[in-house]
Amino acid sequence: MAAENNLQAIIAHAKEYGFVFQSSEIYDGLAAVYDYGPWGSELKKNIRDFWWKSMTQMNDNIVGIDAAIFMHPTTWKASGHVDNFSDPMIDNKDSNKRYRVDHLIEAFADKLKEENKEDAAKSLLSEMEKLEANVDYDGLKKLIIDNNIKCAISGTCNWTDIRQFNLMFDTKLGSVTDEADTIYLRPETAQGIFVNFLNVQKSARMKIPFGIAQTGKAFRNEIVARQFIFRMREFEQMEMQFFVRPGTEGEWYKIWKEERLKWHLSLGISADKYRFHDHVKLAHYAKEACDIEYEFGFGFKEVEGIHSRSDFDLKQHQEYSKKKQQYFDADIDAATGKPYGNYIPYVIETSIGLDRMFLLILSNSYQEQTLTKEDGSTDIRTVLNIPAKLAPNKLAILPLMKKDGLTEIGKKLLEECKSSFKCFYEEKDAIGKRYRRQDAIGTPFCVTIDFQTQEDNTVTIRHRDSMTQERIAISEVKNLVLNAIL
Ligand code: GLY
Repeated sequence: MAAENNLQAIIAHAKEYGFVFQSSEIYDGLAAVYDYGPWGSELKKNIRDFWWKSMTQMNDNIVGIDAAIFMHPTTWKASGHVDNFSDPMIDNKDSNKRYRVDHLIEAFADKLKEENKEDAAKSLLSEMEKLEANVDYDGLKKLIIDNNIKCAISGTCNWTDIRQFNLMFDTKLGSVTDEADTIYLRPETAQGIFVNFLNVQKSARMKIPFGIAQTGKAFRNEIVARQFIFRMREFEQMEMQFFVRPGTEGEWYKIWKEERLKWHLSLGISADKYRFHDHVKLAHYAKEACDIEYEFGFGFKEVEGIHSRSDFDLKQHQEYSKKKQQYFDADIDAATGKPYGNYIPYVIETSIGLDRMFLLILSNSYQEQTLTKEDGSTDIRTVLNIPAKLAPNKLAILPLMKKDGLTEIGKKLLEECKSSFKCFYEEKDAIGKRYRRQDAIGTPFCVTIDFQTQEDNTVTIRHRDSMTQERIAISEVKNLVLNAIL
């Protein structure tokens, strides 16, 4: 299935089965803003919980926080976002449509790839990255003109000069509309961690190296929002800042690159679908950075960033707040025989987009399978083979009929399981239809309760991916599911 169609099929499926809806759809929606439905919010929560556990439970030197979205405005001056958090934009003079320069060039490179001009696409992208790294806007505009890159609306190459456009949303605090009262919706959760560095270190008695994790909403006024929930104006991040002794950041950067890729692969996703992309153009805070990219239907795209942020953020907050952001390291430095003493720690950041991870899971699990029936005819089964631990429902309990005591047995199993994992209960419709609905929302196990259950306390358990069915004791169901979602 063509990449674009595949994304369209996923978007349609996500809506029909209650995963993702366009925001305020009855008013024709709000561009690049989406809502999560009953199964989408469960899947999203499960991804968030899996990340949170992998950080704060599996590492005894990482703790979590939950900072506010609003922060003192000086935070964003200190962090560099007021002055530097902008993207180069270009407008087409005929259509008045504004484009992010990198998106315009990348879209053209994608077109070249579709025409099997891989080398031309590669050299275009590498030229773009070099020009971006040198902040050479005249060079970028020339690259657009020389390649005859046109506006999709007007079809012309009549471009303005390239200008910067800040991505932060601002608003006012209280009722006074004074410039000084301008505050920002946070564009990253990271700063909530940096400004709380000493509060956390002291209150949780953390010793370097240690990390602080946080999940939460962030906001960016993206000019061109594309590809469904891949690039949204309101989105959720899962970020961890790992504080290390200066001089050790190189080895920690490598460790966290490996650790984060392992986390992705632990979900059973093929390693071929992932690659690292080292940044040539670094964000204003970064000394070294890479992306973990996943191959979506629309190409390899960033899901997670690993950044070596040096002492940039803490140093900036120390300067702007006039409050020391130092850590006292009592460990002995073998070279001098003395404690390392006071220093501002260096930071390795891992930053993953929760909504992008959600789209990754949907893309990776969405399948339209052609099944051949006994009479030779074919049928299409749409299934989401979501990793069991992330699936919105873990178990569907399906009494064959709504009578003769089958309901009571089903409800009893539901009562036994529902405090341990999320179950779905349904008595209506033919069993085949019910199986298909569970496949479509990714439920890994369905249990059917029939008349034999009344006689011997066994049920039929059906496995989503293989569609195989087996007869097991009803008393074994809960453990079977628990073992699969560990
Ligand atoms: N904190 C890094 C980012 O938002 O991309």
